[in-house]
Amino acid sequence: MTKTDERTVLVVDDEPAHRLMVRAVLEDEGWTVADAPSGDKALALLAKTQPHVALVDMKMPGMDGLTLMRELHARMPGLPVVLLTAFGSVGSAVDAMKQGAFDYLTKPADNEELKAVLEKSYEYRRLIEENARLRAQRPDLGGGIIGSSPAIGRVRELIEQAGPSEATVLILGESGTGKELVADGLHRASSRSRKPLIKVNCAALPADLLESELFGYMKGAFTGAVKDKPGRFQLASGGTLFLDEIGDMPSHLQAKLLRALQEKIIEPLGSVKPVETDVRVLAATNRDLRADVASGRFREDLFYRLAVLEIAIPPLRERLEDLPLLTGFLLRKLGQKNHKEIRAVSPAFLEALSRHNWPGNVRELENVLERALILARADTFGPDLLPPQLAALVSSAACTVPGDLHGALLPDSAHTPQHGLESAMDDAERETLVRALDSFAGHREKTADALGISRRTLQYKLKKYGLTKR
Ligand SMILES: Nc1ncnc2c1ncn2[C@@H]1O[C@H](COP(=O)(O)OP(=O)(O)OP(=O)(O)O)[C@@H](O)[C@H]1O
Ligand SMILES: [Mg+2]
Repeated sequence: MTKTDERTVLVVDDEPAHRLMVRAVLEDEGWTVADAPSGDKALALLAKTQPHVALVDMKMPGMDGLTLMRELHARMPGLPVVLLTAFGSVGSAVDAMKQGAFDYLTKPADNEELKAVLEKSYEYRRLIEENARLRAQRPDLGGGIIGSSPAIGRVRELIEQAGPSEATVLILGESGTGKELVADGLHRASSRSRKPLIKVNCAALPADLLESELFGYMKGAFTGAVKDKPGRFQLASGGTLFLDEIGDMPSHLQAKLLRALQEKIIEPLGSVKPVETDVRVLAATNRDLRADVASGRFREDLFYRLAVLEIAIPPLRERLEDLPLLTGFLLRKLGQKNHKEIRAVSPAFLEALSRHNWPGNVRELENVLERALILARADTFGPDLLPPQLAALVSSAACTVPGDLHGALLPDSAHTPQHGLESAMDDAERETLVRALDSFAGHREKTADALGISRRTLQYKLKKYGLTKR
């Protein structure tokens, strides 16, 4: 459906001559044309042809165009239907638009106009599909790596580039910087995304347990091994294996892992036969692995085998510009979880966040925000909700009326700086609106539809951002 080189249009018209003419014009433009002389025949064709758009004559014996459009929409929601109306029947054309037609053309249709309208309807369809696909990939807003800093942009870019490859990726970053999130993203971007992503924390298990977890064992391999147990390598077959805290892997296992990576075979404990594996390996650590290599703690050959590609996530304190977006995102996520909505964050609160040095990075930020969310009694965050070590960072200037924190610190557009959470969210919303409007050449209804909001809401937002002239 999303392939751009295959565009199918369903043409429904009772006049054979008109069908032929339309077919000739559109096939010239590279369309695959399926045609039908009546509504019934068109519906019968639908499943087989899977059209991207439909061009339907309004006046036909039997089922008329409007009825067919309703039937089509019931079977294929989102299918753009372009109606052909007799010259002069503007009233029925307007009616058709109200009932959900994408557009209409008066008959006999001008060739150029016909091509242009269908092109536009196809583009519309493609956008809707793209939107649905993106939404499906991001249930509950999650999954994405949030941030506006160049460093995070680079991380996202690397995920897109490296994801689809088979390369082993080493993900580096302090605790809480989002290494696991990056591993999730790499797996999702790969052709293995439908197969499992298996995670192993190498620091969480004692050496011998880690070995049997990774490589599995055969019945009788040791006391207590009462039956065969597949290792995580086998469980991840066809998919991805994420080795977290790889820096903590004991040295004899490092050797075994190297062999698994190089020869793509593993030996379960107690097995005489090596087992072939088909696994892509991702690894992460918050340790300075190069230093560990230098000191002999970590095998150099394994390091290079793992670090075919390296993604380093900088600590939050080095990209404080990500704070507003992250705060907004995390508050929405936590708000859903805690069934509480926060509409604004006071400047003093944000200021304290930006003065902190975040040793626990994004995880720490998440904890600070969850704490505040649980304690909050109003729908705005003031600095009274900060943990003591952060509250101490609020400057006296930002906190003028300590007796009435909520009242005093509610963002007031006339007096507060415009770099807070609200303005960051507004910027993002404005940008989305501008893009959507542009892609539908300013068409309000289609823009609202594509964004999944009502026309009234769209109108309100256009006004809010001064976009009504577009
Ligand atoms: N850029 C980001 N956007 C959105 N959420 C993030 C981002 N970075 C981190 N998080 C969130 O912060 C929390 C910690 O992230 P994650 O577990 O991936 O960190 P980590 O680097 O693996 O930490 P550790 O080394 O302690 O295991 C998670 O809830 C994650 O979803
Ligand atoms: Mg982690």
